[in-house]
Amino acid sequence: MDLQKRNENLKAFFDRKTDGYDDVHIRFMESKCALTDALPDGTTHVLDLGAGTGLELIPLYERFPEVFVTAVDLSEDMLAVLRTRPFADRVTTVSGDFFEVPFRGEDGTAPLYDAMISTSALHHFTPEDKVQLYRRVYSVLRPGGLFLNADKTASDPAAQAEGFRVLAEEPEKYAHIDTPLTVGAECTALEEAGFTVLSVTPLANDNYYLYKAIKKESSHD
Ligand SMILES: C[S@@+](CC[C@H](N)C(=O)[O-])C[C@H]1O[C@@H](n2cnc3c(N)ncnc32)[C@H](O)[C@@H]1O
Repeated sequence: MDLQKRNENLKAFFDRKTDGYDDVHIRFMESKCALTDALPDGTTHVLDLGAGTGLELIPLYERFPEVFVTAVDLSEDMLAVLRTRPFADRVTTVSGDFFEVPFRGEDGTAPLYDAMISTSALHHFTPEDKVQLYRRVYSVLRPGGLFLNADKTASDPAAQAEGFRVLAEEPEKYAHIDTPLTVGAECTALEEAGFTVLSVTPLANDNYYLYKAIKKESSHD
């Protein structure tokens, strides 16, 4: 299935799931908190990919009340919930596909973001799609900036291949099937994009890991 169609299906899925989303996803809160815990003191600008209703921003604003966030999501319905949160005046919401919408800094202005964060949003894409996305993230992080992704992970290469096989067989029926990568494939995608992987840490939820990678200070990109 091509990426554009995949994202159209994901958008329709999450628009439908917005009501009641927080009640279901609150059980992942411990994993979402791990993003905030991994950020250094002094963080001021954060890019959140697949921010949804902004659950991971609740602990972020508890620790960093002054932080500015750019929150990208396909689903305008999910973002509408985010805009009701008490910290919404410090969040710029961008309604669109993170493979397509331009990120601040891609126009040649100096990289601004201290970190890219994402939770439960990047487990639908092929390694090739991820390298393409992660290169763009790398380009908009300032040197020393962090990539922090708390997400599902395939247990082994066979499990990774199975998700993509099922999706290819009945793409409409399984529009939202999870296709997570293994730890190895995820780290390879990050390294191909230019990142140095600092750690991969298991999280409280089953099969969830925190990927922490850095754009090294010495980078000349
Ligand atoms: C399971 S929700 C996670 C939301 C939030 N990060 C959280 O942890 O509660 C996944 C979100 O990623 C968004 N998403 C998936 N693919 C996307 C894409 N290509 N561009 C923008 N948003 C995307 C969906 O619309 C959805 O809101």
